[in-house]
Amino acid sequence: MPPFVIRGETFAFTADPFTGPAEVAYAYDSDGAVVIDGGRIIETGTAAAVLARHPGIRVDHYPSHLIMAGFVDCHIHYPQTRVIASYGKQLIEWLNTYTFPAELAFADPAHAAEVAEVFFAEVLRNGTTTVSSYCTVHPQSADAFFVGASKRNMRVAGGKVLMDRNAPPGLLDTPQSAYDDTKALIARWHGRGRNVYAVSPRFAPTSTPEQLEAAGAVWREHPGTLMQTHVSENAKEIAWVHELFPDAPDYFGVYERFGLAGPGANFGHAIHLSKRERAALQASGSGISHCPASNTFIGSGLFDLAGFTQNAVPAGLATDIGGGSSFSMFATMRTAYEIAQLRGHSLHPVQAYYLASLGSARVLRMEHQIGNLAPGYEADVIVLDPRSRPILAERVSVARSIEDVLFALIILGDDRAVKAVYVAGEKVG
Ligand code: GUN
Ligand code: ZN
Repeated sequence: MPPFVIRGETFAFTADPFTGPAEVAYAYDSDGAVVIDGGRIIETGTAAAVLARHPGIRVDHYPSHLIMAGFVDCHIHYPQTRVIASYGKQLIEWLNTYTFPAELAFADPAHAAEVAEVFFAEVLRNGTTTVSSYCTVHPQSADAFFVGASKRNMRVAGGKVLMDRNAPPGLLDTPQSAYDDTKALIARWHGRGRNVYAVSPRFAPTSTPEQLEAAGAVWREHPGTLMQTHVSENAKEIAWVHELFPDAPDYFGVYERFGLAGPGANFGHAIHLSKRERAALQASGSGISHCPASNTFIGSGLFDLAGFTQNAVPAGLATDIGGGSSFSMFATMRTAYEIAQLRGHSLHPVQAYYLASLGSARVLRMEHQIGNLAPGYEADVIVLDPRSRPILAERVSVARSIEDVLFALIILGDDRAVKAVYVAGEKVG
């Protein structure tokens, strides 16, 4: 494909809005342009300057629309696509009642492929161009995930979950099969196209110490892969971990013991960590996935976002479907804002978008490839309509700044605001 331009109101990050003032951490151009060639952004600037340098170039023009990097959802479960909106349970009962039965069906590769199709269509419709997904225990569920992503040329991370206890027999592997299957999946998918493998011990309660040992070993043996798991989401879960691992200092300490903390480790939730656990997580260089709409929906608790970002822990934003109640990163940012409010802190809109794109990319160690509009970045770009609903248009008509518009979109926006989506420079929706 020859080079082309996306023209509109461009928004890009110029700094981390958590380490300095958010008001100066971005560049906004009311008539900007992004030049794309070979699936990458090769140039950004004012439309006037860019078009003068590239006479006759194809221009996809979106007047009065925002152009920014696609959203990055750093913790999601594609097999739980149809578990979304399941009533009335908290974590452990929710897993046993809804999630584990749904995951059993992924032994069938045809079922896995069918759900993966629905899943990728839904994330892209919502402007999410990268996900880090858990698959089920079945290696074929990870194959279906990477096949679906590869078909769309999306940059994704994912992995089969490792679980060898406290779940139905059809969802259990063993320490050895978990190790062997993970190794084979890494060989098959990691670094192929835009795919990255994430070693995925589900969470401490569903793995024996022997299996966590195997997870640590296979992660260590494959530098460049990621590790994802859940930590400290729910009070009952935490008490259970203390019973199952009586010798560990605490929940995070279980993962530390088995070599499952460090750069490239992505811990979901982290709501109820002790002072020691927070300090250890920060010192390890691990990242955190904040899953606000899951935390309210399953009733898990109110994450202390400010506490982590003040300490420069890499943090991203995630839907945690099917615990989460929406595929939309607008809904996810909105709930993050509301949780922060309940904790006496107002999340700045620029910080919210950062978490939903470059912050999540940083958790996945992809911050130099995706999550921003800048030369050298892969061309995963979304076009947002800030007038996609009557009430949003009304609100935006009195907006006083671009930050005001961005905030209105967080509170009132949904999939209708996603006007166009480009993946690696190809328009896919
Ligand atoms: N902890 C272990 N597994 C899961 C899961 O599938 N969803 C959530 N929200 N928490 C978990
Ligand atoms: Zn999860």
